[in-house]
Amino acid sequence: MSIFRPGYRCRVTYVLLLDGLRRVDATEPVLRADDLGVLRGESVFETIRVAGGKPAFLDAHLRRMRTSAQRIDLALPDGWDALARAACEGVDEGVLRLVCTKGPPPTGFAVVTDIPAETLAAREHGVRVMTLTLGITASQRAAAPWLLGGVKSTSYAGNMATIRHAKAEGCDDAIWVSSDGQLLEAPTATVAVVREGTLLTPPPSVGILAGTTLEAVLALDLVPVTVRPVTAEELHQADEVMLLSSVRGVAPVSWLDGRELGIGPVTRRLRDAFEASLH
Ligand SMILES: Cc1ncc(COP(=O)(O)O)c(C=O)c1O
Repeated sequence: MSIFRPGYRCRVTYVLLLDGLRRVDATEPVLRADDLGVLRGESVFETIRVAGGKPAFLDAHLRRMRTSAQRIDLALPDGWDALARAACEGVDEGVLRLVCTKGPPPTGFAVVTDIPAETLAAREHGVRVMTLTLGITASQRAAAPWLLGGVKSTSYAGNMATIRHAKAEGCDDAIWVSSDGQLLEAPTATVAVVREGTLLTPPPSVGILAGTTLEAVLALDLVPVTVRPVTAEELHQADEVMLLSSVRGVAPVSWLDGRELGIGPVTRRLRDAFEASLH
């Protein structure tokens, strides 16, 4: 059975073994049933865009994967760069997932799939988004490292439940706000807003994941940027809102909590420049 929803095609699976790489059939089981990644969600992962046959921003993803592994005390094996590059061979555009379970022993694997049509549509036409509370203050997640804010572990059931809730309410996605009214992140994306021509986005110190897409967009140096805590009020008054993530890229938020935003000029510019930078 595919681990992905219907419509996702698993094209390539590689397993990272201590003695090297092995390409396996996508239907072949690669994990033990007693792996802590399976039993407790103690795994780390990265979702990476494959563009022009290469894993985009691989170094940044591998750096973050190492940090995530340290945070959950997972002994990450070596060999990820070679695994990622091998898995992308012959794949022009797609999604590369790198996963490492805790085991013991840890099992590393790579899976390549197509980019879902829904993702491409979101990038082009935008997404309808509602804010939802994460139920804690912005400082609590940072002050309680065991809540694993900023860690890309496979304990994403809450993230997926958030998106399901938003979809049940007629939206495409959600943005989390803290119980003290701060903008946090989306369940699978960084959030940035535009106010008076400046891009505002919250810092990782509010307990959010440090996004590689945001990092790449900021490196393009196209607009003035301020990284600082952003309130939910500022989010609601923003001229433009966007979600940034590896595969969707820069996705315009075209509707937020009942307000039509359309696709603004800054979002369009950043989205198009980011796409151009990948090819
Ligand atoms: C919670 C969360 N925040 C932000 C991001 C964006 O990170 P990136 O731009 O590296 O894909 C993701 C990506 O999946 C995420 O899961």
